[in-house]
Amino acid sequence: MQSRLARIFRPESGRTVMLAIDHGYFQGPTAGLERVDLSIVPLLPYADALMTTRGMLRSTIPPAARVPIVLRASGGPSVLRELSNEQLAVSMEDAARVNASAAAVQVFIGGEFETQSVRNMTRLVDAGQRYGIPVLAVTAVGKDLTRDARYLRLATRICAELGAHFVKTYYCEKGFDTVASACPVPLVMAGGKKVPERAALTMAYNAIENGAAGADMGRNIFQSDDPQAMIRAVRAVVHESMKPGEAYALFREESAGPGHVVD
Ligand code: R5P
Repeated sequence: MQSRLARIFRPESGRTVMLAIDHGYFQGPTAGLERVDLSIVPLLPYADALMTTRGMLRSTIPPAARVPIVLRASGGPSVLRELSNEQLAVSMEDAARVNASAAAVQVFIGGEFETQSVRNMTRLVDAGQRYGIPVLAVTAVGKDLTRDARYLRLATRICAELGAHFVKTYYCEKGFDTVASACPVPLVMAGGKKVPERAALTMAYNAIENGAAGADMGRNIFQSDDPQAMIRAVRAVVHESMKPGEAYALFREESAGPGHVVD
């Protein structure tokens, strides 16, 4: 278990930059993920871990990339239906077979199928304990719920109390430090919908400064004008605590190419 966690969280910083590309499990070919072989594979050297599905892993992710895998292990409803009605979608045996570093499950606190999703998580944790595979609980905020510190404290703490080895949650402007400090396991910030690069880097910086142990970003990286420059800038924020202004300048420099000086 510790060995797998150390693949995801870099020992030098104790933090992680996870690249989330699992969106297809409920919403099909998301913008930027139509051709994972072309858009994502070149980014793998910059990701500490890749959050993906077993289908994408089997079909498209080159084994030689050697990127630690956080395997999406829940699913069921599509974006056309009630999303909280998920079931476990991967056995821990298969997660072990594909050499996953962790298994990820959605938990819908306050959602219609709250108990079912919590049960999915606790079953996955029980299986993970047998195999030494950590479980990432992803706090999924339903559309009628507010992503404030009060809600996020509730959701993250329930996941940790019931056995998740690390938790992914959204950032909130006010009181994120109380979310992180009340969660006894590492907290990874979720990216969320695409915003301008400077805003995404600022959000990541604030999350890290307030106690997050990393960022798991999808759209803010692969929908960026320059995904490679963006993931490199996110790495600087997460692993070097680079300030957002400097990280944005780095993004622009990387984006402009070698030898190009950006004002
Ligand atoms: C969470 O609901 C799923 O794991 C998403 O597919 C993914 O994490 C979203 O990443 P982002 O919000 O950064 O695009």
